[in-house]
Amino acid sequence: PGAADATLAAFRALAETDRLLAEDHEIPALLRALDGRFVAPVAGGDVLRSPAILPTGRNLHGFDPYRIPSAFALADGRAQVEKLLARHAADGGAYPESIALVLWGSDNLKSEGAPVAQALALMGAQPRFDGYGRLCGAVLIPIEDLGRPRIDVVATLSGIFRDLLPLQTKLLAEAAWLAASADEPQDMNFVRKHALAHQAAQGIDLETAALRVFSNAEGAYGANLNHLVDSGRWEDETELCETFSRRKSFAYGRDGRPEPRRALMQAVLAGVDLAYQNLDSVEVGVTSVDHYFDGLGGMARAVAKARGTSVPVYISDQTRGEGRVRSLSEQVALETRTRMLNPKWVEGMLGHGYEGVRQIDQHLTNTVGWSATTDQVAPWIYQRITETYVLDEAMRERMAALNPAASAKVAHRLIEAHRRGFWTPDPETRAALDRAEEALEDRLEGITAEAAA
Ligand code: BEZ
Ligand code: MG
Repeated sequence: PGAADATLAAFRALAETDRLLAEDHEIPALLRALDGRFVAPVAGGDVLRSPAILPTGRNLHGFDPYRIPSAFALADGRAQVEKLLARHAADGGAYPESIALVLWGSDNLKSEGAPVAQALALMGAQPRFDGYGRLCGAVLIPIEDLGRPRIDVVATLSGIFRDLLPLQTKLLAEAAWLAASADEPQDMNFVRKHALAHQAAQGIDLETAALRVFSNAEGAYGANLNHLVDSGRWEDETELCETFSRRKSFAYGRDGRPEPRRALMQAVLAGVDLAYQNLDSVEVGVTSVDHYFDGLGGMARAVAKARGTSVPVYISDQTRGEGRVRSLSEQVALETRTRMLNPKWVEGMLGHGYEGVRQIDQHLTNTVGWSATTDQVAPWIYQRITETYVLDEAMRERMAALNPAASAKVAHRLIEAHRRGFWTPDPETRAALDRAEEALEDRLEGITAEAAA
């Protein structure tokens, strides 16, 4: 009876969520706001983690920046970092001395700062709170309590993180500085080991050599690799690295102010053993939007260039349950099976008409973005996408009718992926792709000519 009650309550809550999602609260609230009238406030959040954020269309107040990361996030951060280290070890990786982590604003807000807490856990640091419980800095966990070496962490912040979380930006910089300046053996403190090496090699002070928080210049966002990949106009990997470094090499120090530090960033990236980012929502995957390959792929490419060899890239999936770590190639394969190659997903997209076909094209472009930045996309993925969307005549026809420009782009992109060596179709498949591209092009021009007439 207890279990039945709980199930009934869960279904009632789901029905209520469904009702709230189906009602339009946003347009009326927007009109109220434009009239200068009151819009009720609510805490922002993720609809799966906190259904109480519904109905939408209210005035979001996100978070209390003095309470991030929370105690819960700190405990979770330690647990997730253990999973990451265990996965890397299971893959045969040596104990990492340095880890590159991409931090976004949105997932930190939704999780009370869990990814920030992961960075602190790797370094063996914690936030410090004043008598009122307000965040006021970092403190090191004693090495004896940590029970393992401090791992060096290089964090690249999205521009949004940098804007939304200035206290946490300083917190991370202070944690790196405290670790770099701690009087501890270098084999138990890789932050210090590396900072001393950068200091000697570059003739810089320890404060500079301990900078580990990189982002864009103030007012700038993104690495711009997404635009390069979308345009298809990039020569080689060096150009991708160059763009990434130019955009993301501003080091944010303990004072929260950025300084251009390309040489240091290069040296820090050269020591990185693995790179990762968290994934926070089932709604959006690493192939759904171009920002994941832009930030994490860009960092992986820059690391490979600086080191001379590529390093493992992981996705820490925080979308459900206890969280789990996947290699990037596993993540891309999973997403491709459940989205691009899943008839239900495809039909759902086509139901959206023009925009749905554009989404299909974008998923393919993002997949190419991962190949370009990491080389970790399995060739079968391009083969199956080709079969599903281009070689299947009925599908090709439906897509071309809904969005001729995007369907021609799909064929172009698959050919570009072959030209760049991301997969190798057999000669018949390649010939079929060429014919399809030509037909789609003709159709596009035909339609354009008709519209012009
Ligand atoms: C962020 O929350 O930091 C973010 C969200 C979307 C794209 C890029 C960054
Ligand atoms: Mg964009």
